[in-house]
Amino acid sequence: MGFLRNMSFIFYGSKHFGKQGFARAKASWDESALSRRLEGKVVLVTGANQGLGFVTAQELAARGATTYMVCRNPDRGREAVERVRAATGNQDVHLQVCDVSSLASVNGLVREWEAAGRPLHVLVNNAGILVHEYAASADGHESTFATHTLGSFALTWGLGRVLAASAPALVVFVSSGGMYTSGLEVKHVANQDMAPKSAPGGGGGGKFDGTVAYSRDKRRQVAMAERFGELWAGSGVTVVSMHPGWAVTEGVKKSIPGFYNFYKDSFRQVEQGADTLVWLALQDPTKLQPGAFYLDRTVQPKHLPLAGTAYDTAAVDTLWRALEGMVAGKVTQAEPPAAAGVKG
Ligand SMILES: NC(=O)c1ccc[n+]([C@@H]2O[C@H](COP(=O)([O-])OP(=O)(O)OC[C@H]3O[C@@H](n4cnc5c(N)ncnc54)[C@H](OP(=O)(O)O)[C@@H]3O)[C@@H](O)[C@H]2O)c1
Repeated sequence: MGFLRNMSFIFYGSKHFGKQGFARAKASWDESALSRRLEGKVVLVTGANQGLGFVTAQELAARGATTYMVCRNPDRGREAVERVRAATGNQDVHLQVCDVSSLASVNGLVREWEAAGRPLHVLVNNAGILVHEYAASADGHESTFATHTLGSFALTWGLGRVLAASAPALVVFVSSGGMYTSGLEVKHVANQDMAPKSAPGGGGGGKFDGTVAYSRDKRRQVAMAERFGELWAGSGVTVVSMHPGWAVTEGVKKSIPGFYNFYKDSFRQVEQGADTLVWLALQDPTKLQPGAFYLDRTVQPKHLPLAGTAYDTAAVDTLWRALEGMVAGKVTQAEPPAAAGVKG
């Protein structure tokens, strides 16, 4: 199954994820979709000091959004905010220091947001890593899982009532085509069994496999978007996931140099990878399909032929219960701005 799955991914990815796939898709786009403005809208982008998150924040700021850039390193964050302000002329761009892999840090962001009584119209869960050594997060979870799955779950859940009070609102999980190579792994998550030997990304023989960890968490992000999308249907908060395609970023060059060097002539520019993120943020969220997985402004299949990655509702239930258990007592939902008068 693993061989078929990987072949299916390479075949499909080579056709759709690179710059040629982008060019083919772009031929049918209505470019006026990107000319909309975002004055009066508040957006929060995680992992915004470089790569796709930086470009997305810059593009949204350029369209007039009040832009919060979530960065874990204050120096890199300040420098990124200054670059966006200088490039766009929008001074309503702000640094939000937060390590999304730490529940205390996420809770700190949520508390600050609540204290400011600020609305939130677009949340982009973009922060991501692909590491090849096991590392534990501040809460003792494997770091890939803590960043992509638990961190983005906690932030989305923590700001849920603020988003509902600000509706129509949008949450985007930046997943990856890598998720096509994984089913929905929930057993390790449910067991909270995060030791290297059996971490969610644990490969065979007790050796940590960061690529497996990454693909599993990217699949979990797709499943989380589905469940949030269902739960929040009718609240005016639309939740989706997306895939940027294969885009040249520092993260890619550093974390998967072999893959990058082999395919680099096919890679898209980072702006092309961020295009769907910007496009999604400019849509009326109520017109998007809750729980869908987007690439190049279009809803995509969530499973490839012969990949055997389908999962059932019970698996999502298991994931959900485990995540709720992990955040319990550590992250509290923010009360919405009083003026909105929305009940939770
Ligand atoms: N580029 C691609 O081809 C591609 C393809 C599929 C999916 N993606 C996804 O797209 C997203 C962005 O990737 P990228 O290629 O732009 O990577 P990147 O250049 O490495 O940027 C990742 C950003 O996330 C930040 N980050 C990582 N962990 C964080 C944490 N715990 N708290 C706060 N910020 C954190 C990084 O901050 P530091 O500078 O502090 O490390 C950096 O700003 C990721 O979720 C990635 O999985 C990318």
